[in-house]
Amino acid sequence: MSNFLKSLQGEVCKIKPVWLMRQAGRYLPEYLELRAKSENFLHFCYSPQMACEATLQPIRRFGFDAAILFSDILVVPDALGVDVQFVKNEGPRLSKTTTLEHLKSLKIDGHDHLNPVFETISLIKSKLDPKTPLIGFCGAPWTVATYMIGGGGDNQLFGRAAIYRDPKFVLQLLDIIADFSVIYLSKQVQAGVDVIQIFDSWAGVLNSEHLEMYSVYSMKRLISKFKKLHPDVPVIGFFKGFDLRDWDKISSVGANAYGFDWGYSAQDIDLALAKDIVVQGNLDPAALVGGGDGLLKAIDDILEAFENRPHVFNLGHGIVPQTPLAHVEQLLNRIRNHVI
Ligand code: CP3
Repeated sequence: MSNFLKSLQGEVCKIKPVWLMRQAGRYLPEYLELRAKSENFLHFCYSPQMACEATLQPIRRFGFDAAILFSDILVVPDALGVDVQFVKNEGPRLSKTTTLEHLKSLKIDGHDHLNPVFETISLIKSKLDPKTPLIGFCGAPWTVATYMIGGGGDNQLFGRAAIYRDPKFVLQLLDIIADFSVIYLSKQVQAGVDVIQIFDSWAGVLNSEHLEMYSVYSMKRLISKFKKLHPDVPVIGFFKGFDLRDWDKISSVGANAYGFDWGYSAQDIDLALAKDIVVQGNLDPAALVGGGDGLLKAIDDILEAFENRPHVFNLGHGIVPQTPLAHVEQLLNRIRNHVI
């Protein structure tokens, strides 16, 4: 079994497995070349040949310990019937979902729209070395809701505002996204993914009370329903930017492993968590841009802090387009030559 799957099951591996969030993307020249063949980002995501190729590119170049399906979290609102556009240099733009009335028109059974994603997964599995596990994913209900309510961009302000304006609406929207996502993830598993990651990229904008009532509540609903269908598929919960004082709330969602960003040092995270908790993270993506001795020290600090714990090395958030390829090479060499 691969070190990645072993670590997710709680084994302390001598050489830590490593993959990077957004490892398929714009820091790779071969991705830019492939991406140029499609005007429209969603069209690119729904083209099994291209999405499969984008998934495999970083594996071929770097030999990461896991592949991640190339897609986006916003295919879920797209399948729900929301108008989703990716505007060049601006990011996603969505038609806004803000009232109980809007919820009635969502296509809660719209999973067939995502058939190209399941086709992509089958294609990847037919080409990927079976020793490399494939990660499927979706956005957490709270994070997807912030895009649906605010219409995209950096508008989580409107998601947070909706909690004050109409909490009943927000809870219903979260339930719709969670239940849609359970089936979406289940279909990803049927198509061949080995592990699931759920991205709650905007968990950190909520206060402690709202974190529990909205982000944690809906993640728990999603994971518990998914686990009933697929008890043996490991789930990684990535909550970005939460306060370690809220760890008890976060850990109640029942994931097998938890992703951490760089807001706390690896040492502080290690001290705060029981020894058997599986941790993924938590290198600052800026360290990978900066390079030099600072990068090497940051990598070593993480490896040392998590030495005696099941740990999957990763960034604390997605790799950025400005990252030099040589720094990714250095990162892999450092991790793979680090002997306990
Ligand atoms: O390699 C991988 O990790 C798999 C592919 C992947 C993408 N997006 C491709 C992508 C994954 C797992 C995501 C997740 C995602 N998408 C998240 C959660 C993780 C995070 O970064 O917080 C979020 C919030 C999104 C929504 C999204 N997609 C935004 C805000 C943007 C525009 C900003 C940006 O980073 O470009 C996207 C577009 C996007 N998704 C790109 C890629 C490679 C860039 C678009 C392009 O190539 O033209």
